[in-house]
Amino acid sequence: MNFEETQSFNQLKKHCVFLSDTKIADLFAQDKERFSKFSRSFGDIIFDFSKNLIDEKTIELLIKTAEQLNLRDKISDMFDGVKINMTENRSVLHTALRSNEESIKVDGKNIMNDIQNTNEALFKFAESVRSGEFKGVNGDRILDVVNIGIGGSYLGPLMAVEALKPYKTPLINFHFVSNVDGTDITETIKKLSPETTLFIIASKTFTTDETMTNAETAKKWIVEKLGERAIGNHFCAVSSNIELANKFGIKKENIFGFGDYVGGRYSMWGPIGLPLLISIGTERFKEFLDGARKADEHFKNTPFENNIPVLMALISIWNVNFLNTTSSAILPYDNYLRYVPLYLQQLVMESNGKSVDRLGNHTKYKTCPVVFGEVGTNGQHSFYQLLHQGTEKILCDFILPVLSHNETGEHQLKLLANGIAQTEALMKGKSDEDVIRELKEKGLSNSEIIKLLPYKVFDGNRPSNTFLIREITPETFGMLIAFYEHKTFTEGVFWNINSFDQFGVELGKQLAKRVLKDLKNTDDTLLNNYDSSTASLIEIVKNIRK
Ligand code: F6P
Repeated sequence: MNFEETQSFNQLKKHCVFLSDTKIADLFAQDKERFSKFSRSFGDIIFDFSKNLIDEKTIELLIKTAEQLNLRDKISDMFDGVKINMTENRSVLHTALRSNEESIKVDGKNIMNDIQNTNEALFKFAESVRSGEFKGVNGDRILDVVNIGIGGSYLGPLMAVEALKPYKTPLINFHFVSNVDGTDITETIKKLSPETTLFIIASKTFTTDETMTNAETAKKWIVEKLGERAIGNHFCAVSSNIELANKFGIKKENIFGFGDYVGGRYSMWGPIGLPLLISIGTERFKEFLDGARKADEHFKNTPFENNIPVLMALISIWNVNFLNTTSSAILPYDNYLRYVPLYLQQLVMESNGKSVDRLGNHTKYKTCPVVFGEVGTNGQHSFYQLLHQGTEKILCDFILPVLSHNETGEHQLKLLANGIAQTEALMKGKSDEDVIRELKEKGLSNSEIIKLLPYKVFDGNRPSNTFLIREITPETFGMLIAFYEHKTFTEGVFWNINSFDQFGVELGKQLAKRVLKDLKNTDDTLLNNYDSSTASLIEIVKNIRK
């Protein structure tokens, strides 16, 4: 069942019509308790969703819908290892990577033993790199760690290492190579000494073309500079494909695997998080896992009306499917969170960017919005024009850590003032009267005012959520990201889609193989198999590169 098939759907539709002429600002004026009614806190995170076009009835009906969709059972299914990723016949248990439970079973086997054993080896390895006990082939300490991986094997560690940089060991620098564009690896290794560099080949499958191409180039560099025997000292792997990683030349004890119940974009809580683990150390990494585990317990056990990820999803569904917002903007007011929008693009769009439901039918409703974002205040001087005055209404998530790791003069207060003011501006807008008064005060004539007025007015009534976080710590950061994971899952339940496969990435990869073959081929008659655009592009590329 999807949300449109529930009993409450028609009530929600009617309620949406009822609210259609309402201004969020008026709802605030009518109810002094609005903030406390429509905000929730958990740990050091406050989730304020009061600046949305909602009232108590909206939330009540959305919760009813969640109940009719058996959301509670579906959450349990995920945590219990039911194979909810039915197109790939897999359980979805990234939550096991941060669980304290003694037993979680997949196909009758307790996976917690494997997870604990891997963690033991992983933590030991990371600590040996941090302490300098793990050495390069010539006995040097590792000073640079290069993660080679793409998608979930890149974005999670990239985001997390940056987000938790204040906790980073000063002794090691981290680099991330993902793109098959040779510039990525060339520019990275150019600055490094092979003797003090450790490559992490992060690939669940160990077959992803971009990663393998970069890994081979890195291997060539190490072998050229240090000889064949150096591979074991300068490469480790995070992969489920131990055999291929070992064949590449990586010592078995330096390969860290994880089960197929962990999807790529949900994998940074385990061995894929190795760069973060080396960066912040075992104790901090455990705090990061603790934060996520607390979010898991909150998601599993809290009634929907107080359940932050569920409420995040309800607000999103309301905006996308009833109020017709088209995109979702992620706006962290913290430079260390600069990669959060990038990470959430994969988490959200690779999970829910689908138009076929769990029964194989094309959905008749909209599913995943486009996700984009930028750190504040940079975004303000870029695309916020559209957020305030564009034809699209976009749901904005403002992420505001209150305490900075770099308290310098008035920077942090100014940053926070900007973030808070943006939520107010989007909601309140600016009326004709206000614009006229302002322009009169500036001494403009009536005719000048009439000319400028339409451009200066802000309609307002634009939705936003605010996450006010005391401070970004390993724990609050883990919690925040786990909230987004569970929000994404809950949306998938409303849309009745499988959020855990990603067949949409396959076709391009498949065709790229054929195009590559034909780019290398001398026989131009093969180009007749393509449409004229593709054939011409291939032909022109071949001619230029002759
Ligand atoms: O983009 C598709 C995808 O399968 C992602 O889901 C995954 O994160 C990425 O490729 C990388 O895959 P792997 O870790 O197997 O190299």
